[in-house]
Amino acid sequence: MIDSFNRTIDYVRIAVTDRCNLRCFYCMPAEGIPYEPQAHLLSYEEITRLLRVLGNIGFQKVRFTGGEPFLRKDFMKLLESVSAIKDYNSIHITSNGTLLQKHIAALKQLGITKINLSIDSLDRKRFHKITRRDDFDKVMETFHMLMENGFKVKLNAVIMKGINTQDIIPLAELAKDHAVDVRFIEEMPFNGGYKENLEMYSARDIHSDLRAHYPDLERLSSKHGDTASLLSIPGYKGNIGVIAAFSRTFCNTCNRLRISAKGEIKSCLYDDGVFNIRDYMRSGVTDEELADKFREIIRLKPKDGFEAEKMRKAPTAAMQSMSSIGG
Ligand code: GTP
Ligand code: 5AD
Ligand code: SF4
Repeated sequence: MIDSFNRTIDYVRIAVTDRCNLRCFYCMPAEGIPYEPQAHLLSYEEITRLLRVLGNIGFQKVRFTGGEPFLRKDFMKLLESVSAIKDYNSIHITSNGTLLQKHIAALKQLGITKINLSIDSLDRKRFHKITRRDDFDKVMETFHMLMENGFKVKLNAVIMKGINTQDIIPLAELAKDHAVDVRFIEEMPFNGGYKENLEMYSARDIHSDLRAHYPDLERLSSKHGDTASLLSIPGYKGNIGVIAAFSRTFCNTCNRLRISAKGEIKSCLYDDGVFNIRDYMRSGVTDEELADKFREIIRLKPKDGFEAEKMRKAPTAAMQSMSSIGG
């Protein structure tokens, strides 16, 4: 599917739950989060149907997110049904890495090997402070297990001024001996209301920290739909990425659509939901009607995250938690 800015839209991100077992403060408040009841979530049958319809109109990449996707009961069963849909080149997962160890063998068997893990610090205490849970060792163990099992892993670190900028170089050093993409992300205001005005540590700041430490950093060319600008350090097995998620410098090659756990479609991360596909599906529409609805939504996809923000019904993004959006 081509949108009105001539971008090929072929990547869908689906949040399978809005729940998480961590409480990263850039994503959600410590407590009092109103979770959606089970009946409000898209069922696995509904998700599989949506993916089939999207596959028919040209979607090739799917990423499951949450909340934490492995928290939802029988998530592996969903992966099993989706891996039977032939349209998708690969199935991707973004996870916090605390619950997936026991599924590694089954994931491998299904051929699901592309996993992005969130890890914002290599310091156990700082990790605990950011995530409000003491799970650093578990996540690192998961990372090593995935690498040993031949998974293609990307690490995501949200970089925040005064919190974890000192982690940039130690995290980047993981790329020395591991074939992993270590990606640094600008903080976005989707935090469930903890702070409206972020003190931005920008992609530019991150780049200059990296360059100061690694003078012979090389820029790699990016692929269709990449969020990260990719860099390599001579002699390192992995690469470094910088994601200008707040500055939104990659919208001209955007290739994605999002579906929240309760079926709200976002045609851009910065809009506040353009259509509820769950209710539409539950009204008894045919696959062709669903496909037409997706075509219409894609046609109306905004030019970039700034345009999307202007179109919001609720003016600020701050109250929304990333756990309900899926990142
Ligand atoms: P790959 O498919 O492996 O390139 O990953 P991805 O960057 O698409 O997904 P991931 O879930 O790992 O997200 C990494 C960071 O990029 C998170 O902070 C996301 O919120 C952010 N991100 C992902 N997609 C978009 C997007 O379309 N726009 C913006 N502004 N940020 C995004
Ligand atoms: N700003 C930037 N990235 C965020 N993520 C979650 N909340 C935010 C935020 N407020 C990241 C997580 C995860 C990815 C899906 O989104 O770290 O890696
Ligand atoms: Fe696409 Fe919106 Fe993200 Fe830009 S901010 S890359 S338009 S989803």
